[in-house]
Formats: sequence, structure tokens, C-alpha cells
Amino acid sequence: MKINFIKLNATAKESKSNKNINSKNSIFVNVELLTSEFLKKTSDKNLKTLEKDFDFQAKFSQIQFFENTLYVGLGVEKKLDESAFQKLGARILTMINGLKYRNAQINFTEKNHSQNASQMAFGMILQGYRFNKYFVDKKKDKEIKINEINFVVTDEKSNQKQFNELQILAQNIFFVRDLVSEPANVLNPESYAEICKSLKKDGLEVEVLSVEQMKKLGMNALLGVGQGSDKKSQLVIMRHNGGKKDQKPLAFVGKGVTFDTGGISIKPSNNMEDMKTDMAGSAVVVGLMRHLAHRKAKINVVGVVGLVENMPSGTAQRPGDVVKSMSGQTIEVINTDAEGRLVLADALHYTNTKYQPQFIVDLATLTGAIIVSLADVYAGLFCNDDKLANDLIDCGKQTGDWVWRLPIGEEYDEMINSDIADMKNVGSGRGAGSITAAQFLKRFVGETKWAHLDIAGVAWKGKGDAMAHKGATGFGLRLLDQLVRKFEK
Ligand code: BES
Ligand code: MG
Ligand code: ZN
Repeated sequence: MKINFIKLNATAKESKSNKNINSKNSIFVNVELLTSEFLKKTSDKNLKTLEKDFDFQAKFSQIQFFENTLYVGLGVEKKLDESAFQKLGARILTMINGLKYRNAQINFTEKNHSQNASQMAFGMILQGYRFNKYFVDKKKDKEIKINEINFVVTDEKSNQKQFNELQILAQNIFFVRDLVSEPANVLNPESYAEICKSLKKDGLEVEVLSVEQMKKLGMNALLGVGQGSDKKSQLVIMRHNGGKKDQKPLAFVGKGVTFDTGGISIKPSNNMEDMKTDMAGSAVVVGLMRHLAHRKAKINVVGVVGLVENMPSGTAQRPGDVVKSMSGQTIEVINTDAEGRLVLADALHYTNTKYQPQFIVDLATLTGAIIVSLADVYAGLFCNDDKLANDLIDCGKQTGDWVWRLPIGEEYDEMINSDIADMKNVGSGRGAGSITAAQFLKRFVGETKWAHLDIAGVAWKGKGDAMAHKGATGFGLRLLDQLVRKFEK
């Protein structure tokens, strides 16, 4: 799919035809965007017919086909922001692909809107992503088959420049989606660590700690989770040094459980296949580091991911086992399916003590309970610092990666006290499963500013949404890239 930005006057207004379209046998559609304010005051004959006979009101995302033109509503002017234009782009792509058009020209009735063409194009490419590498016969209907889309704009240069940057972002979102979609027989802790190592070519420093090295450091919480698997657990540390030498880094930590059977506390078989996505937190961290390298961010950032496979076997950890974490704190493993927090405990402590970062944000598909609370709409946010929490909420609104803050506190902290160790890995009682998980993590970050994002609901969308076809979303990459920008000079 080729996307072009063409200067308004370069295309004669009357030739809304195939003038800019290369392919001979192209099936072409014209798209016209307008706000409901414009529709009300215009005297254009076609638009009046649309309004009267088709009940077209140019509401946001309302679409009406009329005389070889798709009329698309922008809704009311004041609600139009970047993510609105991205959503419209995605919607238009789905529409014209479904109607089997191959080429389109997008026109902005109100010319000032054409500065958002690059955002629409971004929405289009995000929507166009498919994970189809395993189809032997590329299933025809699985793919977007658009040849070319031409946006007619007043400023083609700034649109093109913005779009070039957004394309880099999209490529890294796709990298995250690819990792999350990859089945667990292909992506395991060992093969995943190799992928991370290959990012040296992108300009990152990459270090991988082996099982032996982690044993020496005392990372028994993380190692306990992986001990039932044939695949060796890995801790991967990626560094991007774009800032001054003495600048403390920002730190991102990800849960990378390449498959979560639950271990001896085994999960029911229904939907267990979804547990190949239990490394989504780590994928966002790896993708973010890659993106920061690609866009040469002027800041120091460290990304740490704990890669393990949670399997039941003769060597697997048992419920009731007590492990000593790298921090020295002991943990009673009540449920081997609450494994993410065990992995993160050591990854967080390592990151905090080794790098003394400005802050740590961790991402994890940590609890099913967060899906009960927020479904696939918001990620759960838990944070010990109001400023960091509000920054994340703001960045979420700007990027469309929405986060909702939930409480933490002493009352919840008490719920993870154990009878025989410093803590247990599940809360007592039935309630607040996502919060007690966050309380557990909090015990491993000391006084450092820290935020935890529970992305169990948002990392994968069974039905898809406005911006992404069903499957992996890449949630978190745009959010954290935006957060990094706030701290970048
Ligand atoms: N990986 C799961 C959480 C999850 C559930 C992610 C559904 C994506 C979709 C996590 O390791 C887990 O199993 N959590 C348990 C914790 C419980 C045993 C305290 C859960 O949520 O049931
Ligand atoms: Mg689990
Ligand atoms: Zn898990």
C-alpha cells in the first residue's frame, strides 16, 4: 500500500479522477471529509441531497456512499484531535478495502484539516497490519489489497515529514505485535534472547544473563518459575545511551513468560493457547528500546526483560515452596500460576540496585482480575508517585493507549503476608487480585519512583478495534515513547 501526499493545487479540482493513479485497471474511489458544522452551512447541492435524502449528518465516522464518492463525517470540530484522525484513517481503510477499491483519493472539504493527513495515514497502516506468516496459501481475504492512497493536502512537505516519523513508530509497533503473535514453540526464552541480541545491529547495548549468572546473583524467584521448563531462563538488559554520561537512566521492565501453563497449579485447557501472549510486557520493552535507537532519542534508557517458560514437570516448582529472592526477601509460592510477579521481583530489584534509575515502569500481563475490572479498554496503572502517574495518564490520553489508576496501600499490602516467609505470591481472600499483585511488586523497588502497568486486558484484542485488526495490539509502545519524550531534552 503506497501512501502519497499531493499538493492541493497540483491536482485540478475537477479531475477527481484517476489522474494521480498509476495502475491502469485500478478501481478508484474518492473520499470527501467534512465536519457537521460545514454540512449545516454549505449550499453545495450534493451535500444537501445527502443531508435530506440519506440522513447524513457528518457525525464522527459516519460514512455515506454517493456518486462514486465516500462522504465521511468528521463530527464536531472541537473534538478532533490526532487520535480522532487516526481512527478515521483506520475506518476508511477498512471500508474501502471491504468495498474492494484499490485506489483512493482523500479530499478535505475544509482545507485546514489536511494538516492531519499524516495521522490518518498512520491509522491506516496500523489497521492494515496482519500476522500472516504461517499461511502457506496466503489467504486472499486476510490481506489489505489497496494499491495506493493519495491525500490531497495544502502542506505536502510537513505531512510527508511527519509520516516518515510515524512510519518508524508503526514498524516498531509491528515488531511488538509480531513478537506477541509468535507461537510459543517458536518464541521461547532462548530464541527470544537471540532476537534481543540481534538488536545490537540497531545500536543498542545488549547483555544476557544466563541461569548460572542469575544463580550467582540470587535470582531464585525468577529461576523458580523457569525450572520446570526445558528452555533456559534468561534476563536480558538493553541499554540506549543517547543522553549525557552522568544522566541517570529511565528504566522499563517487562514480564516475558513465553508460555504460561500455570505450572503445577495448571490452568484449564480452555483458551490456554492465549498464554503465548504472556510475554507482551517484555515485547513492549524490547520494542520501545528498538524504537528509541531508531529515532536516536537523546536520553539514557535501560530496558530489562525476564524471559521464562512456566511449565509443569518433574523439576517444576511446587505450591508451598519457599524461595529467596535477589533482594533477600523470602517468598512462599502458594500458587505457581502467580508467576509473573516472581519473575518481576528479581528483574525489578536488579534494575533498581544496578542502575538507580530516575524511575521504573514495569509492564506485565499480570492478572486475569484486571480484565474483570477494565476489560480490553484501559490498562491498570499502579504507582507510588502522583507525578509519574499523572504523566502516564496524560500520555495515555494523547496516544490512545489509555491507563486507569487503581489504588495501592497498607491494607492491601497486609494481604500478602505469609505465615512462614516474608510474603506469599497471592493475596488472602478473593478480592483485589490486581492490587495485591501490584503490592507484591512494590516490595522490590524500594523508594524509587515506580509505576506498574497491568496489560493483561489490552495486549490482545480478540475482536480487534478501531485501530487494530484482531490480535496483538502493541499497546504501550506509543504510551511509553511519549513518556520518554517528556523527559528528553
Ligand atoms: N498470565 C496470567 C494473567 C493473564 C490472564 C494474562 C488472562 C492474560 C489473560 C497470570 O500469570 C496469572 O495466571 N495470574 C493469575 C493469578 C492468580 C493465580 C493469583 C490469575 O490472574 O488468575
Ligand atoms: Mg500465571
Ligand atoms: Zn502469567
